[in-house]
Amino acid sequence: SPPRHLMSISDLSPAEFATLVRNAASHKKAVKAGQTPPALSSSLAGKTVAMMFSKRSTRTRVSTEAAVALMGGHPMFLGSSDIQLGVNESLYDTSKVISSMTSCMVARVGPHSDVANLAKDSSVPVINALSDDFHPLQIIADFLTIHEAFGTSASPDKSDLGVRGLKVAWVGDSNNVLFDLAIGCVKMGVDIAVASPAGYGIPEAMKQVIASAAHGVSSPGKLSQTTVPEEAIKDADVLVTDTWVSMGQEEEAQKRLKAFAGYQITNDLAKRGGAKEGWKFMHCLPRHPDEVADEVFYSPRSLVFPEAENRLWAAIAALEGFVVNKGQI
Ligand code: CP
Ligand code: NVA
Repeated sequence: SPPRHLMSISDLSPAEFATLVRNAASHKKAVKAGQTPPALSSSLAGKTVAMMFSKRSTRTRVSTEAAVALMGGHPMFLGSSDIQLGVNESLYDTSKVISSMTSCMVARVGPHSDVANLAKDSSVPVINALSDDFHPLQIIADFLTIHEAFGTSASPDKSDLGVRGLKVAWVGDSNNVLFDLAIGCVKMGVDIAVASPAGYGIPEAMKQVIASAAHGVSSPGKLSQTTVPEEAIKDADVLVTDTWVSMGQEEEAQKRLKAFAGYQITNDLAKRGGAKEGWKFMHCLPRHPDEVADEVFYSPRSLVFPEAENRLWAAIAALEGFVVNKGQI
């Protein structure tokens, strides 16, 4: 049977998504206590994970390489000047060849269709390491972070991370990270309010994808959209943003900086908007001061560094779920 791939959080049922987050939490706890279980540390023994990155990366590269090493496997980093990813060779040929010699492909691409096409023709699991549409590894880490900061006690319901009823406010660009975050929120019963300037909202087709994440979910989180940051922030538990200029949009930088004026997350904006008293801040990084002021980014409210570290535990959980356990999560 064909391998199971991780293209987006939408590929996971609520119970599977919550299980990956819980597994990430338990691996984090065990490894930090110096008790790396042998079943984990040799789980990728003799296996190679190809990492095909056509864009720069700090967190995704380091977390994936470290995760594979911790699991006893070999991470093989293939940058855009190393292999013929869509250049001088078709994605089909590349996928056939690399999957014939490795146990997993982790790919960072531009158009989402590139990673989807790699997956279509691969004989091994493909994990999306960021495309123009989705960033599932980031969102597993983000929910681990939210679970750690806000999660209530364990519930017998496998799809319950103890985060239901929270509100996330996303202020800034509607991008790949937001789309998968919104899908995760819908599945976990977390409301998400998005404030973006006119013309930078969630595209209609993506709204449909996010809405369809609610299918079969008993109390799905609700997505709302506005152009007014204060409106989104009202009663929010977590304020989140990302760069206003994603990789590949560098030529639009000037235009975007202008369009997003007034959307920078500051203490004053949070106060004016009426965020909850104990509000926290998250950002997938890399960060620029445009979208969030230092007073927030480096404050005790900021979860950004635990969030970044959680990429490691998320990568371990994803590799375990998709490669070691072949998609049986
Ligand atoms: N958050 C994230 O994916 O960072 P990198 O681009 O550095 O991997
Ligand atoms: N939205 C950003 C995320 C980087 C991790 C980008 O696509 O560049």
